[in-house]
Amino acid sequence: MAKNSGVQGIKKEKRDRRADVTPGMTRRSFLTYLGAGSAALAAGSTGVLNKPAEAQERFTGAASTPYEGESARGFELAFDPIEPSDADELILPEGFKFNIIRRWGEPVTGDRNFGFNNDYVAYFPIDALQGGTNSEDGLLWVNHEYANPMYVSDYTDPENATKKTSDQVAREKASVGGTVIRVRREGGVWRFVEDEEHNRRIDATTPMDLTGAAAGSDAVQGATEVVGTLGNCSGGVTPWNSVLTCEENFQYYYGESSDDQPSGDALAETDRWLDDPDSAQPPEHYGWVVEIDPFDKNFKPRKHTWLGRLRHENAAIRVSESGRVVVYTGHDQEDECIYKFISSGTFDPNSPNREASSQLLSDGMLYVADFANGRWVALDYENNPIFEENGFKGQADMLVRAPDAVKLVDPETEYPLGTPMDRCEDIDVHPETGTVYAALTNNELHGNFHGQIIRLFEKEGSAEATEFDFEVFAAGGPNTGFSSPDNLAFDRNNNLWMVTDMSSDKHNQGIYTSFKNNGVFVMRGVEDAVRGEPVQFASAPVEAEMTGPAFTPDGRTMFLSVQHPGEETESKDEPTSTWPHDGDNTPKPSVVAIMGFGGV
Ligand code: FEO
Ligand code: CA
Ligand code: CA
Repeated sequence: MAKNSGVQGIKKEKRDRRADVTPGMTRRSFLTYLGAGSAALAAGSTGVLNKPAEAQERFTGAASTPYEGESARGFELAFDPIEPSDADELILPEGFKFNIIRRWGEPVTGDRNFGFNNDYVAYFPIDALQGGTNSEDGLLWVNHEYANPMYVSDYTDPENATKKTSDQVAREKASVGGTVIRVRREGGVWRFVEDEEHNRRIDATTPMDLTGAAAGSDAVQGATEVVGTLGNCSGGVTPWNSVLTCEENFQYYYGESSDDQPSGDALAETDRWLDDPDSAQPPEHYGWVVEIDPFDKNFKPRKHTWLGRLRHENAAIRVSESGRVVVYTGHDQEDECIYKFISSGTFDPNSPNREASSQLLSDGMLYVADFANGRWVALDYENNPIFEENGFKGQADMLVRAPDAVKLVDPETEYPLGTPMDRCEDIDVHPETGTVYAALTNNELHGNFHGQIIRLFEKEGSAEATEFDFEVFAAGGPNTGFSSPDNLAFDRNNNLWMVTDMSSDKHNQGIYTSFKNNGVFVMRGVEDAVRGEPVQFASAPVEAEMTGPAFTPDGRTMFLSVQHPGEETESKDEPTSTWPHDGDNTPKPSVVAIMGFGGV
């Protein structure tokens, strides 16, 4: 059934994916079935809703054989896991509470409001540039991934027979991108700080520079400056305290030029911003990793072309032993790949020159993961003739069409240069060991409906390695209690946090019935000799996805986005969710602070 265009486009994307080799499940996870039952739920209308577990064992964050890392573990994490729920509430274990910091439409600065569908969240201690770890006063960066036109621009033509007006397109452009806000913990509550100099919005109209090999090239129509950012999904924080925000489903706004994507013409019939011819932009200006400095309004955002152009989910950063900056990034589309960038220059953690640090992302090499041979393959036009032999015009062309370049088959190994994966969502690097964890959310084309988390071991632990080993770490399914892993985050106690992203049109149906709404899960002691089973920490409101968990340095607060509650709503008069239940019958994406870690 046809639905409104914006959400329809992204949902359609989740269905129309294509196929090929899948990395196999090399061994069965030994995770234990915990037997989640269905306790009755007393639903509250606002604020905290806790749910004691009846069938699961209490979670304790210290594993039986502790990992002997150097980080301070601080307090012990302990809670009674919750059970899956289909309630229209954000549910947490007993002893935890949350408050909403900003919801869609609330003021940020001047006449600019908090955008729609908040995704990735990063917390910066307000004293971070002085090396501080203030965990009660800081800046939040929040991605706004996409707009639901029904709510954002009042575009409600289910058949897409009419074009959006210029005003509607402008309203949608203003609702995406990202937000910087000052936040402070006062009296046990995290509050937005009004009239604060850092508060600002970045959106689809903000001028940005291109850096790297593709900047100014024919592959980007000679552009060194582009207009705005969009599709901002997940991201990462650099060691110099800027944020990398990742343009994921960019193809719905201005189309895409390559063969397997909707062309501009096809897109104009059903979608987005080409309806306003004055607003059209070249597709090649999107699909990048974008750097933004939350501390410096004068830092013009940069799209770093050396990190490739693809549907970037995330950017996970590690500094190698020699000081090179390494960025791992996944392409969230069925049968697409995992990449890493290695900088040419080296990072000096003692240098106050943040401009020099940012420039490290302007020169280096992009690699793609070949899981068949356990190697990283350089996308190096100069030193590998395969690219020129197959029609690539140069390094810039390869970066702009990276997904095409990695599909070339290596004549020696007879495998594609990059191994097609099961939709790589988030990647995170373990802060102590450097092990790379990647959430592969699912791949319906190959019968993988629940996804898995893999982990990748760089040779000799070096982020610069060109060889690696890997294994399946945890497989989704009724046995483990989660399906469709998405964002990942490590806490200071060596626990791995994971959120799930089952498509909202499938919740509480068929093979997804037992999982109920999307949730937040945690796995104890992931690098310890004995690791824990995944247990559920939170349950999302109806049809929502919870995204971008981020901890304060003291580990006592988790910031979390509640994205697209009521996403299946077809009429504003009959919303499928009304969370956060603030009286106007409208579901609102919101960013929340969760407290209770180490005591409220
Ligand atoms: Fe925007 Fe791949 O989730
Ligand atoms: Ca995601
Ligand atoms: Ca997702």
